[in-house]
Amino acid sequence: MGLTLAGASKVAKNDNLLIITDSENLQKCKDYLSDSEYTALTNSKKKGASQFAMPQANRTVFVQSINETDAGNKQKELMRKEGNDLLDLFKYSQIKEITIVNLAKQNCSFEILEGLVLGNYQFLKYFKNTQPKVNNLKKIKVHSSALDKKQLNTLKIITDATCAARTLVNEPLSYLTAEKLSEEFVALSKDAGIKVEVYKKKKITSLKMGGLLSVNKGSVDPPTFTIMEYKPAKPKNKKPIVLVGKGVVYDTGGLSLKPTSNSMDFMKSDMAGAAIASCSIYAIAKAKLPYHVISLIPATDNRPGGNAYVPGDVVTTYSGTNVEVLNTDAEGRMILADALHFAKKLKPELVIDFATLTGSAARAVGSLGIVYMGNSDKETKNKLEQSGYTVHERLVEFPLWDEYGEMLKSDIADLKNVGGPVAGAITAGKFLQHFTDYPWLHLDVAGPSFMHTADSYRGKNGTGIGVRLIFDFISNY
Ligand code: BES
Ligand code: ZN
Ligand code: ZN
Repeated sequence: MGLTLAGASKVAKNDNLLIITDSENLQKCKDYLSDSEYTALTNSKKKGASQFAMPQANRTVFVQSINETDAGNKQKELMRKEGNDLLDLFKYSQIKEITIVNLAKQNCSFEILEGLVLGNYQFLKYFKNTQPKVNNLKKIKVHSSALDKKQLNTLKIITDATCAARTLVNEPLSYLTAEKLSEEFVALSKDAGIKVEVYKKKKITSLKMGGLLSVNKGSVDPPTFTIMEYKPAKPKNKKPIVLVGKGVVYDTGGLSLKPTSNSMDFMKSDMAGAAIASCSIYAIAKAKLPYHVISLIPATDNRPGGNAYVPGDVVTTYSGTNVEVLNTDAEGRMILADALHFAKKLKPELVIDFATLTGSAARAVGSLGIVYMGNSDKETKNKLEQSGYTVHERLVEFPLWDEYGEMLKSDIADLKNVGGPVAGAITAGKFLQHFTDYPWLHLDVAGPSFMHTADSYRGKNGTGIGVRLIFDFISNY
């Protein structure tokens, strides 16, 4: 990304400054502003402005007032958004380096910086001339009054990991085939000291992972199955937490072809679940959190090639369950079935899967939330929901009532891969549940993984949603 985050114990006199303050400590800005400049600041505050910029001879001083009318998570999210808005001010003043100082009693620097750093993300790889596009801001020096070393390290890790997830989502199939994706996982693993193994087509075939292989039949590129394992010296959990991610590097729908516009055109993002499973274990390992975590990622594209699986086919999945395929566009559940079955032999304490699984989930909550369901205990669900509120990646639980399972009964096989015309997100979840025998949560991230219009610090295109959520969840596990 080309943005450096560094700690600072001193403020040099020519440093551009971002002063974060509250009303009570506003006068302390006088240390950095002349009397007339300070009057300008108080006047702008009176008009209701929360941000202020004062160009001086050798530097510019910015003042960010924290939101004092809201508290808790609402305030946190507002501060992230303000952090993103600061970027416009910096752009206007062509700021390359900025030093952050906190004067406020309640320290909101973490959220402000989170919004600022995430908002500064760019994906410029495919521009021949990036020069006119690239953001000016290159370095943020964070004074110890704003963040201590540990907080700064955490901020770096979660913003890096979120941006890495965005980049994976933004990469098109022309670059990011399943094999390439697995190479990206190997690179992330090496960087974070994660043990990694990639099963290639031959191994996948010998294991009889029929779900993954059937989706791959219409493709010319081979599938992969990646296992990433982070095991610290003395993990607090005896049995691993397993993260599973849907790695459909492109979803055409297969023979049940999707219409191009507004549907197939952004289906390079159908591996957003894989981005969550890989980039969150990356962050967990980087931060050396004391938990044993394993990520499993089945990957392939879904295409209508000559040998493609067809509606009516019966596929024997890795678990031995026979699935009647009635829609080749319901491919995510086919590949996840194999990964969820694989997870059984890891004797997990908890499995969480992430998938851009259904349009039904996206329609239910839009981009504002994650539809989730599962059979883990209530406390685990509450904690995950709590993390969702903390990082503003909110979750809403859907039921897994038995009756929804009835909708998956096939005339000729154990299961069919589509339910009825209603409750699509739930029947997809019921399908997955069939392949689990452990505490399990399924997160359908079809709505919030990819934005078609910019949304503050989440930006446009790949959002990297889920990474901060899981990092927070495991941090508080
Ligand atoms: N990848 C799609 C789901 C999707 C939709 C993701 C919109 C992101 C945004 C998935 O593979 C799919 O096509 N699901 C079908 C299932 C149906 C055929 C049972 C769907 O939701 O329409
Ligand atoms: Zn599909
Ligand atoms: Zn899909």
